Amino acid sequence: MRVAIIGGSGYAGGELMRLLLKHPQTEIKYVTSRKLTGKPVTVVNPNLDGLTSLKYVMPNIDLVTKDVDVVFLATPHGESQTLVPGLLEKGVRIIDLSADFRLKNLKAYEYFYGQHSCPSLCNDAVYGMPEVNKEKIKTARIIAVPGCHASSAIYGLLPVVKAGLIKPFPIIVDSKTGSTGAGSSPSEADHHPVRANVVRPYGLTGHRHTAEIEETIAPHFDNADKEIMKVSFSAHAVDMVRGILSTIHVFFKQKPEDEKPIYKAFREFIKDNPFLRFVKKQAGVFRLPDPKTIVGTNYCDIGFEVDPLSDRLVIVTALDNLVKGAAGNAIQCYNIIQGLPETTGLDQIGIFPI
Ligand SMILES: NC(=O)c1ccc[n+]([C@@H]2O[C@H](COP(=O)([O-])OP(=O)(O)OC[C@H]3O[C@@H](n4cnc5c(N)ncnc54)[C@H](OP(=O)(O)O)[C@@H]3O)[C@@H](O)[C@H]2O)c1
Repeated sequence: MRVAIIGGSGYAGGELMRLLLKHPQTEIKYVTSRKLTGKPVTVVNPNLDGLTSLKYVMPNIDLVTKDVDVVFLATPHGESQTLVPGLLEKGVRIIDLSADFRLKNLKAYEYFYGQHSCPSLCNDAVYGMPEVNKEKIKTARIIAVPGCHASSAIYGLLPVVKAGLIKPFPIIVDSKTGSTGAGSSPSEADHHPVRANVVRPYGLTGHRHTAEIEETIAPHFDNADKEIMKVSFSAHAVDMVRGILSTIHVFFKQKPEDEKPIYKAFREFIKDNPFLRFVKKQAGVFRLPDPKTIVGTNYCDIGFEVDPLSDRLVIVTALDNLVKGAAGNAIQCYNIIQGLPETTGLDQIGIFPI
């Protein structure tokens, strides 16, 4: 398959190149950057030195669709929707890493992101979460790759929601993220002396990913619970370059006598999904998921603890925002549309210690 990456000079685009250059069934034909057109991609991604002679080109639709099967969009939200209609006319399949086509609820889209320029296409798009939508991804023309925070929340919540174990309210998700989550454009908030050593609350309320978490888990509650289901999401910027750790607080409908039903719920969900790992150990330093152990991989690690003093279940997930939270998940979807094993080109083992 021949692919193009629009938005190749950003962090997610760089990660797509890192992974696709070693993908056995793929040739990267074009990588775009308006600011760096004509420059080698290694100017931005020195980790690719000696591995590619690709140079950035302009994101011109006629050019980037020539002899190309799949176009990855690693562009900011709001920009993908300006490109998608033209790309569809060229007959390519689109894997969009932005938020533009993730939501079916257009009112929620408008509330969180503003006006959509091609709302009718949102219905054509498939939410690109292989663990939820594998069959639909196979034939989708537009795949909307989930947000990084949203993925970390959904992988933790869905197993226990599907098993009918938890109340629809309150559901509290508290996420910590590394600096690459903010993208590669310089900003005052991400200047090194200001960003280093922080544990900075941001998006404490009204975070955009709340909508896609709710839209994905809601159908798995029974009808009465669906109406009152509510996710309370907050995020913090912490002193990491990559990685997300989400701590999820939920409450049992009826507290089980032991942990067996909870283990069962997670094992059921994880068993057919090669990139979800259950991490809950009795000994060692890393007894529960930790971003430190998954950096550079497409894994999402999931664990839990039951509060002995209340009805609370605390679920913890860890993933790399640029891999399972973006480029890796996009390639997992790409493998599915090609009928390849989901793990093709995604078998990296984490670097430890890092
Ligand atoms: N960073 C993450 O952890 C993460 C995780 C999940 C999803 N995402 C999503 O993935 C997308 C990319 O994120 P990122 O962090 O890689 O952003 P980024 O570092 O800011 O990169 C954005 C890229 O898009 C290009 N671009 C900007 N405006 C464009 C336009 N109008 N037309 C064509 N290209 C344009 C930029 O290059 P030029 O300006 O030079 O053209 C650059 O290559 C975003 O939608 C983001 O929300 C990111």
